Amino acid sequence: MAFPERFSNLPDYAFPRLRKLLDAYAPGGEPIAMTIGEPRHAMPDFVGPILAANLSGFGVYPPNEGTPELLATISGWIARRYDVTVAEDRLMALNGTREGLFNACIALCPETKNGRKPVVLMPNPFYQVYAVAALTVGAEPVYVPATAATGFLPDYASLPKDVLDRVALAYICSPANPQGAVASADYLADLLALAEKHDFRVLADECYSEIWRDAPPPGLLQVAAGQGADPERVLVFHSLSKRSNLPGLRSGFVAGGPQCMARIRQLRSFAGAPLPLPLQRVAEAAWADEDHVKASRALYHRKFSDADRILSGVQGYQPPGGGFFLWLPVEDGEAAALKLWRETGVRVLPGAYLSREVGGENPGKGYIRVALVATPEETQRGLTLLRDCLYR
Ligand SMILES: Cc1ncc(COP(=O)(O)O)c(C=O)c1O
Repeated sequence: MAFPERFSNLPDYAFPRLRKLLDAYAPGGEPIAMTIGEPRHAMPDFVGPILAANLSGFGVYPPNEGTPELLATISGWIARRYDVTVAEDRLMALNGTREGLFNACIALCPETKNGRKPVVLMPNPFYQVYAVAALTVGAEPVYVPATAATGFLPDYASLPKDVLDRVALAYICSPANPQGAVASADYLADLLALAEKHDFRVLADECYSEIWRDAPPPGLLQVAAGQGADPERVLVFHSLSKRSNLPGLRSGFVAGGPQCMARIRQLRSFAGAPLPLPLQRVAEAAWADEDHVKASRALYHRKFSDADRILSGVQGYQPPGGGFFLWLPVEDGEAAALKLWRETGVRVLPGAYLSREVGGENPGKGYIRVALVATPEETQRGLTLLRDCLYR
């Protein structure tokens, strides 16, 4: 029996690849995990009581699109955060943003664009689901460098007109994983203007939007409303995984234009997995509360300041504007990750595991990604070992 060709060139997922690289060697000290993007701050204390009070909800099928109460709470959060009104029919609850980013591409990418194979744009390096989504729908993924030279965001406008005319969808991630770059309102406005000119949609992955340093990152909904853009051009994806330290809840949402949302809703009513009702109740409480988000952000601020102090003087170190990763330049990411593990026990991810080689260049090769998810004390210890091992 044959298998689909379109997934045959997928690289291994980053973490099995990392295990293959490191696990043949003993750690050089007590292991410190700075690899995975799993928040490890405390989850909000209301999770348990709300879950317990809603256990009977496991006995019924949950509404696909989200309960009216959850959607109303999300709409309220968007209004407070971005000062825009998004009616509930423009929202849908997700099982975390990963499945939403994948399914939206299936629901929205046409079979052809201007009579030719459609293109899906994505930054390089990037969150790998974007590429798999593009391959799933038979589109051509185009990996656009997001490097120091481009402010760590993709410069989609620099692509040839021939490519831009085939673009159906463009993914953008701000704050960016892995680089921590934050797209300014001007950047997002230019991207929307490009989308208008070449008639494509923008899928904005904003799952790190609440982890920021100096100012809340602008959101695509807000910029689109400000410039009177066609709402059908814009889809935004948000998550409780990072904002509320609830990666295991699997809860997020997508917001977009009414026609796009009708397509997404239709697809998901056949093939989607709705969030169990008790978990929707927990999600509702989480979107209604900012205190736990502020407390978590304060902890990240402390770790960012420690990183600035410990890594000051490291050439190419750039404090991230948001998210919880450091994207550190090294000569070779795999060699650095291996050396660090063998000499200190600190575990980081080679940048190339998050990026693709295009035209002989891999923009992640000379980097490691370091997640600041542990306690401030452990993070400090890990960063100090890392600096002394790789930069001294
Ligand atoms: C850039 C980015 N987008 C999306 C996700 C998916 O998050 P979730 O499905 O937990 O909302 C992640 C998770 O690590 C991520 O880093």
